Amino acid sequence: MVATGEDQSPNGIFLASNESVYGPGERAREAISRSAGAVERYPDDGMARLADAIGARFGIDSETICCGFGSDDLLARLARAYLSPGDELIHSAHGYPKIPNYAYANDAVPVSAADRDFTADVDAILECVTDRTRIVMLANPDNPAGTYLSGVEVRRLHEYLRPEILLVLDSAYIEYVSAPDYENPLALIKSSTNVVMTRTFSKVFGLAGLRVGWVCGPVDIIDTLKRIGITFPISAPALAACEATLQDRDHFERVVGENHRIREMFSDVLKSLGFEVIPSQTNFVLVRFADPDQAICNHQALEADGIYARRLAGGEFARCVRFTLGMEEEMLRCIAVLEQGCQKDG
Ligand SMILES: Cc1ncc(COP(=O)(O)O)c(C=O)c1O
Repeated sequence: MVATGEDQSPNGIFLASNESVYGPGERAREAISRSAGAVERYPDDGMARLADAIGARFGIDSETICCGFGSDDLLARLARAYLSPGDELIHSAHGYPKIPNYAYANDAVPVSAADRDFTADVDAILECVTDRTRIVMLANPDNPAGTYLSGVEVRRLHEYLRPEILLVLDSAYIEYVSAPDYENPLALIKSSTNVVMTRTFSKVFGLAGLRVGWVCGPVDIIDTLKRIGITFPISAPALAACEATLQDRDHFERVVGENHRIREMFSDVLKSLGFEVIPSQTNFVLVRFADPDQAICNHQALEADGIYARRLAGGEFARCVRFTLGMEEEMLRCIAVLEQGCQKDG
């Protein structure tokens, strides 16, 4: 991906990294402040305490949970634990761009499966399976497109994978999904031996800066992931904040509700103005322009107005700009800039 402008002013509107514009709720903020009084100690048993809190909140056995330094840490650990040199990891062509790196980091081979207009394609993925396939890793919903696979499709994919192939479902944006045919992968995890899902506190819970994620899966996989992780992966402020935020249902509901409302408003207004909007199930929206020049030109016009969205590089992404959903006024400002149109340099 192409980074946004280097010269971001402190007063800009930052819509590039899919963080929650609402941040954490008051309860989590207070817990972080309180935790400052005890940072000279390791957060003893922090991982187990957080796994218990997550388990209680989501109705999951805490023995099937491992917490880490963002879900990125856990995706990397899964690759480290289960990929040997020469093994293949299948990912969706326009899926989460970090996924191929997890393969490269372990001398494994990333295999790109064609998608259907930015949506993962189960048949194409299955066609990529070989004797060397060890992991299929998908973000669902996906980033940067915001598209998703239905529960039926995920189960169909799983049905045709050999049991020794690990299906990793990166569910970083699961809380934002409103599509009725999406399924939380928990039931599939419980009924199988080769499915895991990763989750994060970086998005809907507004704690990206504290770097906390978790993974749920079969106990043998979870034990392996725990063994290869660092000691005390969850800092004391992170533990306090996560425990508090899991209790704060009001903040959670408000964030999810506002995100849905603004996602619809932003998408509908842009569509009514003639822009191509990829339907999103996340806290960001991908807009596709006629060509890469238009994407660059609109991105520059936004930056000139202090709005930092994410321009993407490579293939079909070259004509796209991704907007993390901010506050309503911020999204209206984006719309105003896009509506005004842009002049190409030179
Ligand atoms: C699909 C997806 N997976 C994982 C991550 C990493 O999240 P974390 O902050 O938990 O490492 C991101 C971050 O943007 C993401 O978009």
